[in-house]
Amino acid sequence: MTNILEVSNLSVLDKDKEKLLDDISFSIEKGSSLGIIGESGSGKSLLVKTSLGFLPKGLKASYEKISLFGKDVYDISRNKSKKLIGENVGYIAQNTVEYLHPLIKIQDQISDGFIDHKLGNKKEAREKALDLLELVGIDDPDYIMSLYPNELSGGLKQRVNIATALMVDPLLFIADEPTTALDPKIQYQVMELLRKNHERTKNSMVIISHDLSLIKNYCENVLVIYNGVVQEKGKVENIFNNPKSDYAKALLDVNVKFDQDKTKPLKDIRGYLKTEV
Ligand SMILES: Nc1ncnc2c1ncn2[C@@H]1O[C@H](COP(=O)(O)OP(=O)(O)OP(=O)(O)O)[C@@H](O)[C@H]1O
Ligand SMILES: [Mg+2]
Repeated sequence: MTNILEVSNLSVLDKDKEKLLDDISFSIEKGSSLGIIGESGSGKSLLVKTSLGFLPKGLKASYEKISLFGKDVYDISRNKSKKLIGENVGYIAQNTVEYLHPLIKIQDQISDGFIDHKLGNKKEAREKALDLLELVGIDDPDYIMSLYPNELSGGLKQRVNIATALMVDPLLFIADEPTTALDPKIQYQVMELLRKNHERTKNSMVIISHDLSLIKNYCENVLVIYNGVVQEKGKVENIFNNPKSDYAKALLDVNVKFDQDKTKPLKDIRGYLKTEV
């Protein structure tokens, strides 16, 4: 199997039958990396969630094929899909805060998946966790492990989530805006860690980001999405150097002009409707 994830003709409708994703096809090969770009509200997070089997409540999906490690995640039992994802996928959703349990200490949250999937005992999990926390730029991993999530800043929570996702050496690593809460130095450190991890484990990596220079630096392929429709997909170097679609041209142009302010959503792309500001 060369494709870790294969999606063809995926559409998602909301309760008013409005198309949130429109006939999207894409695939992720073993060992490859994919960046997903497009302005706020274009469907990046929804595409990834739906492809992993996490279709949000109230939405309807139709597709010709969704195949994650050769399995249709909507066609297997919840237990099977949980196991498939738990063992093979490291997924960091956009709002990382929601994904840390408020009543469980970091040391237990970070180790759970590793122990559940029988990758080692508690001591081995602790050692690996300490190493990973250090690699994501945490100075005192021992101390952080003893805390509860509400004792951590947003940036620390995000780094804990990144370390947690890497504990099982996932074959597919997906991070939705992994570095937004991080200052530039830590951002660089985390992205270099992800790059090294990608090279070492030969995993497939998907990064969603508003920061186009980050996608340019760390991904091999890119998918440009607007209003639920794929505008362009292909090799990063081709699309960044020679975008064919009007949307990709405009997006790259805006991003170059406003590269300094990464906190604001992209907007006012001529000829395109704004979906969200
Ligand atoms: N659970 C949901 N119920 C209804 N609509 C949703 C749901 N999740 C997403 N949407 C809608 O789907 C569209 C795409 O949302 P999505 O979160 O995927 O955008 P995005 O590209 O990730 O944006 P951002 O860059 O701001 O994270 C938006 O119009 C959003 O309002
Ligand atoms: Mg999003």
